[in-house]
Amino acid sequence: MGLWIAGAVLAVFAVTVLACSRYERNHVAVREYEVVSPAVGEAFDGYTMVVLADLHDNGAGKRNNRMMASIRRIHPDAVMVAGDMVMARKGVCRYGECVRLLKRLAFRYPVYYGLGNHEDRMGKDAAYGSSYREWYQEMMRAGVTVLDNLSLTIRERRDALTITGLNLDKTHYQKFKKAPMEPGLLERTLGVAGRDEYHILLAHSPAYFEEYAAWGADLTLSGHYHGGTIRLPILGGVMAPSYELFPKWSRGMFRLGEKTMIVSGGLGTHSVNFRLGNQSEVLVVRLRRRG
Ligand SMILES: [Fe+2]
Repeated sequence: MGLWIAGAVLAVFAVTVLACSRYERNHVAVREYEVVSPAVGEAFDGYTMVVLADLHDNGAGKRNNRMMASIRRIHPDAVMVAGDMVMARKGVCRYGECVRLLKRLAFRYPVYYGLGNHEDRMGKDAAYGSSYREWYQEMMRAGVTVLDNLSLTIRERRDALTITGLNLDKTHYQKFKKAPMEPGLLERTLGVAGRDEYHILLAHSPAYFEEYAAWGADLTLSGHYHGGTIRLPILGGVMAPSYELFPKWSRGMFRLGEKTMIVSGGLGTHSVNFRLGNQSEVLVVRLRRRG
């Protein structure tokens, strides 16, 4: 009898956990952040960005329609993509949902796209054939600005806002641990960060926040860790898709001196198709000049 009750409790627990995970994957939360800095130019006080990351081509049909409706209510000045909107794994890739969503967004807003490890893999691994080229052409046709180690400066009155997209190669995406970054790599790859503008860096991996801040990124927008898959009170995210346990910066806003990093918990999953205490999310980031 006791065993029967224990079995029933376990079954109810398992069903509840799976139902929560399903809800969290299929319903996108909107999480808002305000970044206050004297480095924000007057012309960009109130500049509002929607930040998307780690769609992994998930969310066919209703889910992304609901998300699109939420974004329209926000009226952002721009949409920033922090990478991994496509799925490329074990020689198989998908980008249909990514293209559908970004076409709709780029029709209404400027969209700046920084690449993640899945886009990088799709572009460099021969197993994916011409997929990257075809996906890139779709992005160009949609009017998405893909920043593959490139920068773009928006000037308004006497103020400037620079957006840089960093594409780190696969040596920076090792399983189980963070690989060290070669000194000077960011300067060689991206050039020297300007001092007279507010600088936003789209850097998929949050693991190198110290390096991004030292390079000159005022605000880094990242993803990659999927919020740590399961989030626990106090301890935070449990495991990154790279199987790193309790990653330091798995979701939220972090500061190093005057520099800020905001990490998205992401919009999708792959490999471990599970989320708990870690609802899929769209970020709204508003810049404020103060200080
Ligand atoms: Fe990633």
